[in-house]
Parts: sequence; structure tokens; C-alpha cells
Amino acid sequence: MRNEPAPNHNGAFYQRDRSWHPPAFTPDYKTSVLRSPKHALLSLTNTLSEMTGPVFGHSMLGPLDNDLIRNFATTGDAIGPRIIVHGQVLDEDGRPVPGALVEYWQANAGGRYRHKKESYLAAIDPNFGGCGRSITDEEGRYWFRTIKPGAYPWPNGVNDWRPAHIHFSIFGHAFAQRLITQMYFEGDPMIWQCPIVMGIPSKEAVETLVAALDRAATIPMDTLAYKFDIILRGRRSTMFENRMEGN
Ligand SMILES: [Fe+2]
Repeated sequence: MRNEPAPNHNGAFYQRDRSWHPPAFTPDYKTSVLRSPKHALLSLTNTLSEMTGPVFGHSMLGPLDNDLIRNFATTGDAIGPRIIVHGQVLDEDGRPVPGALVEYWQANAGGRYRHKKESYLAAIDPNFGGCGRSITDEEGRYWFRTIKPGAYPWPNGVNDWRPAHIHFSIFGHAFAQRLITQMYFEGDPMIWQCPIVMGIPSKEAVETLVAALDRAATIPMDTLAYKFDIILRGRRSTMFENRMEGN
């Protein structure tokens, strides 16, 4: 069980900065046309149902939940370049988010998902399931071991390919803090050709999704490493009598 958030962390959440996040309607990403709202959004005040959420504990994790090289393996390790992905989950005020549930899923080294509707020709790896989860420690840190996923084609334009990526869902201290995003790999030229990535307004915002090769965290003769820090929504501080709570 993690500790409850400090009292000054109980305020309402900041509004999302919609100039930073990709707009819901980005026609070059075809499925966004039908998925996007047709009417202007209404802004609602946070209520208890957004400002709270379930509490996650390390006891809910299995011993291999953060090891995608082995968590579905039957006859040997998953095939592909062995990597560690690690980072820190912070809020917009730079505070670590302990006890966050970090879930991740990805294609195998050939770019193939293990899903019955997957139509790409690349082979399934029988020792690779492609999903796992971690819970952040007291400093908001997480890590997992996996294989580097491959790029894959998808039915969007005539010949669109997704850059190598890992999908993330991060559940912090409240429903309003949930973030679903994707992580890319430093140095991949395909990032800048992807219609989904190009839906993000600024280059600076895209760069926050690109994990840096982290030589310091590699394990010699074993595993390369990438560092991916994640920022969740912050909370406004709340007033307590005549001063900010926690001061
Ligand atoms: Fe994907």
C-alpha cells in the first residue's frame, strides 16, 4: 500500500493544455475522423469522481509482470534486442507520483501484435505476449525489461508505417490523472513520418515522447536501456485558513 497523498495534493486538477495535446480531429490519422467529437467541448468542474481513484499496491503484481522477455515465455526468452525501459512519473509541479499503475503493451521484434485481428505478415513469437505492468516506487520510478519492438504497417494511407513504439497507460492518484500515450525510440527517422505523431502540434511535445538511449543504465553484455519520464496532470494547491496547505 502506498501512502496517501500529502494534504496539499488534494486540490482540483489543472485544465488540460489542449494546445500541447494532439487535437482529437486529425484527418491524416483516418480513424480520428469518426472518433472525434462533433460538438464543442464543455468544461466541467472537477468532482469527487475525477479527483479520486483506486489505490494500487505492489502486492497486486506478479513477479514477472515487468519482464516482457519472460512473462509469457514457454520454451525460452522472447526474441529481439533486449532493453530496459525506465523513468520517473511526475506531476506538472514536478512532484513524483508514487503508487501509479504503469501498464505497457507493444508489438514483438518483428512488429507483430499477438491479436487475432492482426494482419501483418511478420511472425508471432511464441515466447512473447507483449504486455506488462509496474507500480511506481516512493520516488515515482518504474522500470521494466522487454525486447525492442519492430515498426509495422497499418491501413491508413497507401503505405503508412508506425515507428517502433510502446503503448503506455498511467493511472496516478485519480481518474482525472489517467494518461494514455506512446513512447518512441531516440534516433528513429520513422517518428517524423508517422501520421499519428504528426497530429501533435509541436516538435517539442513530440520530443517528450521519445525515450533517450541511456548508456548509464545498460547492463554490459545483456541489455540496452532507454529512459522515459512521464508527466501527469498536477493539482492546484488548496487554501487552508490563511495559507496554502502543507506550508
Ligand atoms: Fe501500436
